[in-house]
Amino acid sequence: MIVEPSPAKTHQMIRDARRRGLTIGCVPTMGALHEGHVSLIRQAKSECDFVVATIFVNPTQFGPNEDFSKYPRTLEADLEMCREAGASLVFTPQTTDMYSPDTETIVRVTKLSTVLEGAHRPGHFDGVTTVVSKLFLITDPDKAYFGQKDFQQQLIIRRMVTDLNFPVQIVTCPIIRESDGLAMSSRNRYLSPDERRTAAQLYQALMLGEKLAKETTLSPPEISARMQAHLESAGGIQVQYVVLADTSSLETLTARTAPQAVGLIAARVGTTRLIDNLVISL
Ligand code: PAJ
Repeated sequence: MIVEPSPAKTHQMIRDARRRGLTIGCVPTMGALHEGHVSLIRQAKSECDFVVATIFVNPTQFGPNEDFSKYPRTLEADLEMCREAGASLVFTPQTTDMYSPDTETIVRVTKLSTVLEGAHRPGHFDGVTTVVSKLFLITDPDKAYFGQKDFQQQLIIRRMVTDLNFPVQIVTCPIIRESDGLAMSSRNRYLSPDERRTAAQLYQALMLGEKLAKETTLSPPEISARMQAHLESAGGIQVQYVVLADTSSLETLTARTAPQAVGLIAARVGTTRLIDNLVISL
């Protein structure tokens, strides 16, 4: 497995692999890898000949009061996990390799980026779409792998790829969870043991939503209100949003007008902000 910080050298190595007839899979990450990331690399390896994982804590997707400087950086362990999962190349640029001081270009998905996560984290998705565009241009993949964990992010990337004719197929992979249902996240390591126990209630609330959709005739807003009440009764959880939304537009559903909804939750447990989601049949 090759570890390469230079965008130009990475591009050249991938071009060489492509000339040898290999198909290229790309798995963008910010490091602090866990089994969720590993599942993406494994899936890429099962479908592509040459898998490039990228590890870059992208400053432009963090807000001024967010955790950029304290975001966990665990490069040695990350590289070991990439190797075990079957990556051929790991692209590990520095900020100066990715952004020159006079950078002025951004890629923006105008509508999908402003709701839900976008409303709570202004500018976040501009940072994501800009860096993912750059990563796609550097790694020129046939397929790129994203987690359903960041449901809105994968929808926005799909929109961008369609709108800008990126010649890449987006693959969305299932959410990998801890045994109590908590979705794996690099940010889970910020949780104290007490908070860690509380955090499992996010998944419990999503399961409650699924059960109410199946066993009652409650409307989506009635269901999300009960999910919110469940979270608030747990204590120690500050809910930012709980909605049942359309799985492609992310518009909040007011009635059972679609066969499916995505239940989306964002909440703070202590100072740690967590997100989770579940696709629910209506
Ligand atoms: P990061 O948070 O490191 O996540 C990298 C990829 O792993 C994302 O596609 C995310 O959805 C996926 N992932 C995270 N937790 C997961 C889980 N429990 N199960 C399955 N997949 C999971 O998302 C980013 O980085 C950045 O925004 C990035 C796309 C790299 C751009 O900087």
